[in-house]
Amino acid sequence: MPDASRHSAVTDRPQPAGAGGELFSEERSAEVVAASFANTPDPRLRQVLTSLVHHLHAFVKDVELTEEEWGAAIDFLTRTGQTCTEVRQEFILLSDVLGISMLVETINHRTGGTSTESTVLGPFHMVESPQRDLGQNIALDGKGTPCLVSGRVTGQDGEPLAGALVDVWQTNEEGFYDVQQPDIQPAGNLRGLFTADPDGQFWFRSVVPRFYPIPDDGPVGELLAGTGRHPNRPAHLHFIASAPGYRPVTTHVFVADSPYLDSDAVFGVKDSLVRDVPEIDDPDRATHVGLANPFRTLTFDLVLLREDQAPPAAQPADVQPTMVQGTPGAAS
Ligand code: BEZ
Ligand code: FE
Repeated sequence: MPDASRHSAVTDRPQPAGAGGELFSEERSAEVVAASFANTPDPRLRQVLTSLVHHLHAFVKDVELTEEEWGAAIDFLTRTGQTCTEVRQEFILLSDVLGISMLVETINHRTGGTSTESTVLGPFHMVESPQRDLGQNIALDGKGTPCLVSGRVTGQDGEPLAGALVDVWQTNEEGFYDVQQPDIQPAGNLRGLFTADPDGQFWFRSVVPRFYPIPDDGPVGELLAGTGRHPNRPAHLHFIASAPGYRPVTTHVFVADSPYLDSDAVFGVKDSLVRDVPEIDDPDRATHVGLANPFRTLTFDLVLLREDQAPPAAQPADVQPTMVQGTPGAAS
């Protein structure tokens, strides 16, 4: 706590709410600024702002940020905002390449290792995916290496989730989503909303997706290029699986032989989500499943947590932040 007696000469001045009258100093900058938020009525907002101020001030002190660097950061963030449009969210992309999107996703969807792990949603999901029948071919243009995708949606105890919804979207074999090539791919190509059968099973025909770069012609691309990072994501299919009474999961299945599995630009890969996609060379089976021979197969089962099995939130809202050394909550 600030020692008010040290500031007796200024105690008559009007004081900012919660600031306790202590003037700004390099040593106690974080405490002074955090105190200005002390009367924030919403306890969670107060907790978040207090922690944010402490971390930001610790960062500026750690690197001894120069005025030029501060100016460059303001310029970068300004241009990041200016790059956002109705169809492009450069700030989320920035959050993605900094690993923040994955951290928030992971913290908020802990599985305890007993259900399917989640990963980032990404910008290419359609709010209303085209409804498809089980077995349908989602490669509407017929291009690419044929692949039979199948799996089963269950609860944690193995109970089949009959009627579960399985929303799927992926790139074509050149690494583009339909919305990126509206003049080349038919609308709705390589996406679909399936309803699992009474045993929780789903299956559909598709093609093997390819790795692709995230949008890198804006400030986030500059950041990647300036730091020697590539913009690529390994080949994957996106899934959102949901069923009444269960927590939906937003995830991917990654193709095991894809490049960039160990250097995904947005840190989305988790070991539990990688699958082999073996080739099957069997003309009879190919005819049976309605694909050209040879074809590849990908099996991905999804396990959902019941809503009442959901792990508890990490921290109640009124708990004080745990901070780095020299700030509130640090072990003494
Ligand atoms: C995607 O997988 O579609 C994606 C995720 C994050 C950023 C860009 C694309
Ligand atoms: Fe993707």
